[in-house]
Amino acid sequence: MIAISERFAADERAQRAWGAALGRVLCGEDGLARAGGLVFLEGDLGAGKTTLVRGLLRGLGHQGPVRSPTYTLVESFELPGALVHHLDLYRIADPEELEYLGIRDLLDDASLVLVEWPERGAGVLPAPDLEVAIAHRDGGRSLRFEPAAAWQAAFAARLPQTPGPAPAP
Ligand SMILES: Nc1ncnc2c1ncn2[C@@H]1O[C@H](COP(=O)(O)OP(=O)(O)O)[C@@H](O)[C@H]1O
Ligand SMILES: [Mg+2]
Repeated sequence: MIAISERFAADERAQRAWGAALGRVLCGEDGLARAGGLVFLEGDLGAGKTTLVRGLLRGLGHQGPVRSPTYTLVESFELPGALVHHLDLYRIADPEELEYLGIRDLLDDASLVLVEWPERGAGVLPAPDLEVAIAHRDGGRSLRFEPAAAWQAAFAARLPQTPGPAPAP
């Protein structure tokens, strides 16, 4: 069975709010990713993937800037309730580069791993626990959440209909 939840973010602020909401679902009390999780963020350039991550990190208490890891490939954040690795594979030439990046360790340490452009890591990245597909719609963005089988019931129960307040940019 495929269980997809679709939500809408009318603007950049709502995108951040959804990021924070996702952070609560994954890393809040009884969060689905408390024992680790791999999330694929799919969508074209400018879809809003990094904005979603920014909201998630802010919501979890990150204070400093959140830059796109386009050049560094990975940025790691040690937050009060979670260790989060944010990857952007747009510029990798070969999925093998992920091995040099130490992807195994990143995935092994009970952290939340968020990956932009996961298709570029095909063959090296394992199957995700959650896919988030972001696309332009009506001037804003549609967000399609597709959890893996093991997460489906809990994810559907926890994902709110509206995201709640947006954290600071
Ligand atoms: N829900 C939204 N509605 C309108 N604009 C958005 C939304 N989410 C993000 N944006 C804007 O889209 C642009 C690209 O966002 P970004 O997160 O950098 O995309 P990506 O990481 O997918 O390339 C930014 O200017 C951002 O403010
Ligand atoms: Mg990005």
